[in-house]
Amino acid sequence: MTGDTVRIAAMTAGHADQVLDIYRLGIEEGQATFETQAPTWAGFDAAKLPGHRHVAVDTTGRVLGWVAAVAVSDRCAYAGVVEHSVYVHPEARNRGVGSALLAALVSSTEAAGIWTVQSGIFPENTGSLVLHERAGFRVIGIRERIGRHHGVWRDVVLVERRSPIIT
Ligand SMILES: CC(C)(COP(=O)(O)OP(=O)(O)OC[C@H]1O[C@@H](n2cnc3c(N)ncnc32)[C@H](O)[C@@H]1OP(=O)(O)O)[C@@H](O)C(=O)NCCC(=O)NCCS
Repeated sequence: MTGDTVRIAAMTAGHADQVLDIYRLGIEEGQATFETQAPTWAGFDAAKLPGHRHVAVDTTGRVLGWVAAVAVSDRCAYAGVVEHSVYVHPEARNRGVGSALLAALVSSTEAAGIWTVQSGIFPENTGSLVLHERAGFRVIGIRERIGRHHGVWRDVVLVERRSPIIT
């Protein structure tokens, strides 16, 4: 993969195969998520908020990574709280793609009046912890043995970014 200019675009159904492939690659590495297999596009499409899914593409249109968010609750008090996922193709990492995707998510969510973006990160996922810290997320705490992953209880670091402009 080249180091060509990266562009952020709205995720569409045309990106589906590449988005799900990148998701699958991240899942297979074992440190990204409790999920053990990628969803279908229909399942992904139904779950993710339409205005807050973005892809990073190179100059040829190849998808380098994606970010997407879901609502955390249907309670009114939490209407402005979402949880996101961010995945970058293994060959496109460590050159700012993840940071660009998080910046796009912060921008789209703030424009929509969403005040908190959160995520859960395995403590072993150093890359994601650094990425989120750089993007202004803070660590809320560690949820101990919160879920089983391939039969093993795992901790999750809860991180969030509270928008300073939504008051
Ligand atoms: C986590 C992930 C999205 C990071 O994407 P990326 O495009 O490589 O991130 P960036 O290049 O924008 O790096 C952002 C910062 O994190 C740092 N970073 C990235 N990966 C790192 C690693 N493995 N170890 C230490 N620091 C790392 C970068 O150096 C950079 O810091 P800087 O601003 O000081 O230069 C990517 O590694 C990935 O897709 N992993 C698999 C899926 C996953 O774990 N998703 C997150 C689930 S919570």
